[in-house]
Formats: sequence, structure tokens, C-alpha cells
Amino acid sequence: MQHFLTTEHYRREQLQQMLDLAAQLRQTPVRNDLAGRSIALLFLNPSLRTRASFEIGAFQLGAHAVVLEPGKGAWGIEFAPGVVMDGDAEEHIAEVAGVLSRYCDAIALRAFPQFLDWSEDRQDKVIRALAAHASVPVINMETIVHPCQELAMMRTIQDHLGVPDQRKFVLTWTWHPRGLNTAVANSALLMASKFGMDITLLIPEQAYLLDEHYMDTASSQAAASGGSLSVTTDIHEAYRDADWVYAKSWGALSCYGQSQAEAALREPYRHFIVDEEKMALTHQARFSHCLPLRRNIKATDAVMDADYCVALDEAENRLHTQKAMLLQLLAANALPGAAQMNASGAATSDREPSV
Ligand code: CP
Repeated sequence: MQHFLTTEHYRREQLQQMLDLAAQLRQTPVRNDLAGRSIALLFLNPSLRTRASFEIGAFQLGAHAVVLEPGKGAWGIEFAPGVVMDGDAEEHIAEVAGVLSRYCDAIALRAFPQFLDWSEDRQDKVIRALAAHASVPVINMETIVHPCQELAMMRTIQDHLGVPDQRKFVLTWTWHPRGLNTAVANSALLMASKFGMDITLLIPEQAYLLDEHYMDTASSQAAASGGSLSVTTDIHEAYRDADWVYAKSWGALSCYGQSQAEAALREPYRHFIVDEEKMALTHQARFSHCLPLRRNIKATDAVMDADYCVALDEAENRLHTQKAMLLQLLAANALPGAAQMNASGAATSDREPSV
């Protein structure tokens, strides 16, 4: 069974095929490739873009999306194996995955970390449990990585820069009132390194380095793709001659689960906000962010309203790239009647004709 849990398991060519198909889908958004198909969207955490783009994307492909919020309208789920279930959870992921696999052609899950123990959270056990028990493809809608956001980010980079190789990609940490998930930052490193970009990771101090797995993977992927990865705490050095500025806030892993200590560590670094002065140092860079974004905290109004801010383009590309990924995932798993790719990358179906 092929899932879409992380882009680490995909070759650049496979991801580029999704990106190319996404560009085609942007031109012809309403199709019938997945008529009669369904996808379950399990949200353990809030969402605007992910939920709207998956629901609308499924509709545009002729499929149905059912949104389930365990613990809020659907039964709470236990994910750990061998547990005596005498707590709040009413059913186990074994049954949830089994039941939804009987109804649906794919299951997507958003499950943020618990923010208590990074040695636990970094294992991504919740989505792995779902994948272990499901008999249909599982899609990661954000856990400790956000591969759907990666696709949209790279589609947007290619829309604006063309070939991404050797272009300077700055991933800048920004201050935020709370210590946030590292998922989008991990993912930005994974995708930019796979596509040969020269990455500069800008952090306020070493405590904000990302998990060694993502640092090491990005480093080795960059070496293989002809790109590079460097780390700096120097704002001017980072922004200078940048082609792309990508902002994200995240909590220091060394203070994981200690919100007050992390807040104190973070406090002196409010000046990491993306502003016009910093953007003026770049090589007429585009600015983007996965959203949601607190204005005048992570980036100023002037930056968000500038022509070079392409965050809305990236949000739109969530729709096109997820549709492409879904078509390719169902084709790759060769489900009876599922979409199949023809030689040009367009999707067809052996159940319903494409329109
Ligand atoms: N970028 C993103 O995943 O947005 P949502 O949290 O609104 O889904």
C-alpha cells in the first residue's frame, strides 16, 4: 500500500509529476475522474485551508469527502496498542481504520503533536497507527511534517521562479506568542532540498535548530540534488540575495513541553519579524507563508500586502496539488476503478470517463 505520509519516500520525479498534473488541473478544475469515490478527512486539530481545499478538491473530481472530528461529533480515538481503554476514547484506531477502509478509497488525518515529549512525538505514532490498520491509502494533513503544504509550496516556487535549482531559499524562524509545531519548517527543508535549492535556515540561536532527522535528511538530499543547506543567526546574511523568503514560527525543541521556559527563550527575538527593510536586502525575493499568519507578529502589513507576497497563491495551490496527489495515489494503489495515469500524466478512470 502506498501512502502519502511524508515526501521523504518519494523521488523528485514522482513529486514533479504531481506538480505538473496540478498545473493541468488548475486549467481544468472540474472533472469526473473520481466519480463515486470517497475520502474520509479526520481532523484532530482545527483547519481552514486543509479542510476547505480537500473538501472542494474532492467535489471538483466527482468524489465525496466526509469530514470527521474525533472527540467532537465523532467518537474519541485511542491510537496506542495494547491499552486498557478506560479513559475518554470510545474506540480504537484499529476499528476506525478498518471501518473507514470499508467505506472510503482514502483516509486523510491531521494529528498535531502532543507537545509534551519530543522523543515520543518525533516518532509520528498516530498516523503510523492509522496507516498500519488501514487497507486504503493514508494521507498526512499535518503531523510532524506537512507534505501537502510542501507540494503547494513547490508548485508556487515553480510558478514564480521556474526552475528552483540553486535559487536561494531562506527559511526564517519568526517570533510568535506560542511555541508552534515544527511540521511546516521540517517540510520546507525536505522539499526545498529535494528540489536542489540553496537553503539558508535563519534561526535566532542554536536552540531553534530543527530535529536532527530533518536537518540530516535535508543536508543529504541537498547534496544529492546539487543544492545546499546552511544555518545562520545573522539576519542580514540570510536575507542578502535571497530569491525566496519563507517564514514560520516554531518552538525550541530543547524546551519541548516547557511552555514558560520556551516563551522566555523566545522573548528577545521579536525582531525576526519579516518586514520591508529585510525584504529590501533580497534579490527581489517572493515572500510566502503556509498561513494562518498573525499580521505584524510574523510579517508586517506592508509585507503581506506587497506584490511579492505570494501566500495566497500558495494557499490556492493546496487545492490543485492535493487533487493531483490524490489522483496519483489512487492510481498508484491500482484500486478497482480508481484513476489511472495516462502517459501525459492526465488522469482517466476505468469506471467513469474523464470529462
Ligand atoms: N496551512 C494550513 O495547513 O492551513 P490550515 O491549518 O488552515 O489547514
